[in-house]
Amino acid sequence: MLKACVIGHPVSHSRSPLIHNTWLRQLGIDGLYERQDVAPQDLSSFISSLSTSSYAGCNVTLPHKEVVAGLVDVPDERVARTGSANTLFKRDGKICATTTDGEGFVQNVLWRNPGFSFSGSHVTILGAGGSSRAIIDELLLRGVDRISLVNRTLSRAEDLANLFGPKVKALALDQVKEALPTADLLVNTTSAGIASTDDFAIDLSALKPAATVADINYVPLITPFLQRASAAGHVIVPGLGMLLHQAVTGFELWFGQRPPVTEDLYNLVAADITGTGKP
Ligand code: ATR
Repeated sequence: MLKACVIGHPVSHSRSPLIHNTWLRQLGIDGLYERQDVAPQDLSSFISSLSTSSYAGCNVTLPHKEVVAGLVDVPDERVARTGSANTLFKRDGKICATTTDGEGFVQNVLWRNPGFSFSGSHVTILGAGGSSRAIIDELLLRGVDRISLVNRTLSRAEDLANLFGPKVKALALDQVKEALPTADLLVNTTSAGIASTDDFAIDLSALKPAATVADINYVPLITPFLQRASAAGHVIVPGLGMLLHQAVTGFELWFGQRPPVTEDLYNLVAADITGTGKP
């Protein structure tokens, strides 16, 4: 039997087992996807043990995504650029790492807006943390023309702009207005647009009507930020789809088939989230 797992600490709320085990059943593959709670002090020994373990590989979630990047034998170029890994697999006895967060984001946008063209576009991103970094990396690979990176702490946005080069422009929150009128895609990567008492009420009226609006948060499934965008007539991209799409490459690496992201799967995972109210 083929096996994979997700490691994190805590890991009990991870939806990855639900996603991967659903695909295993659907595709008739004799496999199992488990949760492994790995404390930070045990991470290094877990990674060392992977090469001889029965796992074909694993997903990596909080708080290990950055540390693990320095523990594997072969980090790929995405891991090297973003300093973060979420998918480990074995090749020729070596532990290899990639990150699929950026790919998951891009595929989710295309899922909800198949006509969207990244090439030549202007993307405005709110937030400059780890998720933002993974998304910027993928957007640049996709040929976006420029990225406006808006962050509460300007210096963090400037750090990413220096890292990624002249296509990324750092802006403070009070400069957000200048980054909206020409944006083709607006992305919230901060946790600020989630609460119903949303104090992050960015005025979306400056966006052009054709702009697409995405959030990477998925609890609630449609964040207040997305609700406002939807009410204003924008195509919206809920964050749960990113979780589904980022899982595809890992599944293919471990189990040998590329699984489908469907509305049924979205609804299944959405129901689980609605039931627990937890991310
Ligand atoms: P992740 O790795 O998930 O992206 P992170 O590294 O903790 O998470 O980054 C969180 C982002 O949300 C940061 O850009 C943070 O802004 P700061 O760099 O100023 O801390 C942003 N953020 C979180 N809460 C916020 C709030 N209430 N208002 C504005 N930005 C917020």
